[in-house]
Amino acid sequence: MIIIFTLLILATILLFWGGFFDVVWLPTKKRDYNRIAKLIDLQPNEILYDLGSGTGALLFYLSKRYNIRCVGIEISPILYLYSKVKSLFYKKVNIKYGNFFNHDLSEADGVYVFLHPKAYGKLRKKFSTDLKKESKILVSCWPLNNIKPMRMSKKEGEYTYYLYKKAPLC
Ligand SMILES: C[S@@+](CC[C@H](N)C(=O)[O-])C[C@H]1O[C@@H](n2cnc3c(N)ncnc32)[C@H](O)[C@@H]1O
Repeated sequence: MIIIFTLLILATILLFWGGFFDVVWLPTKKRDYNRIAKLIDLQPNEILYDLGSGTGALLFYLSKRYNIRCVGIEISPILYLYSKVKSLFYKKVNIKYGNFFNHDLSEADGVYVFLHPKAYGKLRKKFSTDLKKESKILVSCWPLNNIKPMRMSKKEGEYTYYLYKKAPLC
């Protein structure tokens, strides 16, 4: 009994491991996937990075529906393992393990961010060194400070999404 209880506690800690970094796991709503795709507007074979990709569900959907290439970076061992195994069945999705601050983002045409705003300062520095000038950045819920988004997707009672270009961030 004690062993099962300990394993359950351990699994829960590992599942929500991201909470010790830049935000705890909370998936993007499925009904928002197409809204996100339209706002970021990537072309077939362009590359989207999801920083903290959770179960990877958004990436699996977008890769199939819009024929884009996707890279997810996830720090929770459980979410990573789950999405890594699933990615074996998706040619265009690559899931990487670890802290996204330690990964190179230079091939990204688009980046999806659903994180706590406390991460934004460090993220913006990373974007300015890593990203291409024309890369797009789509931010969920909390806009970046002091920068006007290029476009937004707003819906009554739903999350707002903000689209930025890398260029004005640096
Ligand atoms: C709010 S969830 C979003 C999940 C997914 N992007 C989605 O939209 O469904 C944030 C995710 O980021 C992960 N995370 C937090 N900080 C991270 C870091 N520094 N590096 C990698 N992943 C991180 C968490 O474990 C969690 O799965």
